[in-house]
Amino acid sequence: MAQNAADAVLDDRALAAFDKVCDLQLPVIDDFRGARLQDLEILITGWGCPPIDEAVLDAAPKLRAVVHTAGSVRAHITQACWDRGIEVSSAAAANAVPVAEYTVAMILLSGKRALERARDYKTVRRREEWLSTPRTIGNFGRTIGILSASLIGRRVIELLRPYDLNLLLHDPYVLEGEIDVPLVSIEELFERSDLVSVHTPLLSTTHGLVSRELIGMMRPDAVLLNTARGAVVDQDALAEAARRGGRTSHPGCHRSRSPAAGTSFVGLRKRADHAASRRLPGKRVGPAGAGLARRRPPRSSAGPPGPASLIQ
Ligand SMILES: NC(=O)c1ccc[n+]([C@@H]2O[C@H](COP(=O)([O-])OP(=O)(O)OC[C@H]3O[C@@H](n4cnc5c(N)ncnc54)[C@H](O)[C@@H]3O)[C@@H](O)[C@H]2O)c1
Repeated sequence: MAQNAADAVLDDRALAAFDKVCDLQLPVIDDFRGARLQDLEILITGWGCPPIDEAVLDAAPKLRAVVHTAGSVRAHITQACWDRGIEVSSAAAANAVPVAEYTVAMILLSGKRALERARDYKTVRRREEWLSTPRTIGNFGRTIGILSASLIGRRVIELLRPYDLNLLLHDPYVLEGEIDVPLVSIEELFERSDLVSVHTPLLSTTHGLVSRELIGMMRPDAVLLNTARGAVVDQDALAEAARRGGRTSHPGCHRSRSPAAGTSFVGLRKRADHAASRRLPGKRVGPAGAGLARRRPPRSSAGPPGPASLIQ
């Protein structure tokens, strides 16, 4: 794993835990070239691990398992690992827990329009007339669409059960009755939901899955919450929808604010995208793999209606 990833996760507690179950070979390997691999039986990997290819496997003849301490193994597990029967584990299930918690928090806060109202207050420094709070603000009876019953998506569904929400699910690989949530087509999910939460893995078949067309089908005051990879969503369509929404907000509600600086993003990984997203009036980009943006119904002829919020 990359040295900075190792520094972040291999604290004294972790090292002591490893000590109980194995002879840990240090220092951490961040480049297999020239590394001592001949006696390795298990590789503990993390973010920034270089590919484990034929040459690495030849140099590590005793290797039988790769234990990955993060989610996706796509970047370092090569076909050669599968061909040689190397066992691979990932921490995706553990990773799913905080992502699902974050998602649920954002769903509930977005229903209360918490971020916009806090920003409004900061702008006008006046308490809102609470009796005139629009009835659309609140979570009771909101429809939440879950896109993909992934590890994270399933956990979000379970965490949302105690609330008075109507859940919908789209996942082409889930059978009717398998999960106790109505299964709908992807179009219906986007049309009917007050908020769509995206939990789809990035595959060749899901690149741009949340298309311009689907975003355009969303209700004018709806929210798109994406804690999955940014490329699952058509970024141009997302940016346009956020821009349109921003133009039509009530005073102070959609003024551009920079996302949290110096944090990592899943939705928009590229620096250029981050810079562009900062300028979007209706879009929030949040830290550590999630963010948010809200779009209001356009009053002008700025374009077709789209989601009110785009949380990525
Ligand atoms: N925000 C973060 O910090 C964070 C952390 C971990 C993972 N992630 C991201 O969250 C997403 C979900 O991760 P996971 O580990 O829960 O995924 P997963 O591998 O468990 O997801 C598999 C699910 O996707 C469904 N799926 C496949 N093709 C589909 C399609 N065309 N349409 C709809 N559904 C489809 C499958 O049926 C299955 O239910 C990924 O994009 C991952 O990169 C984000």
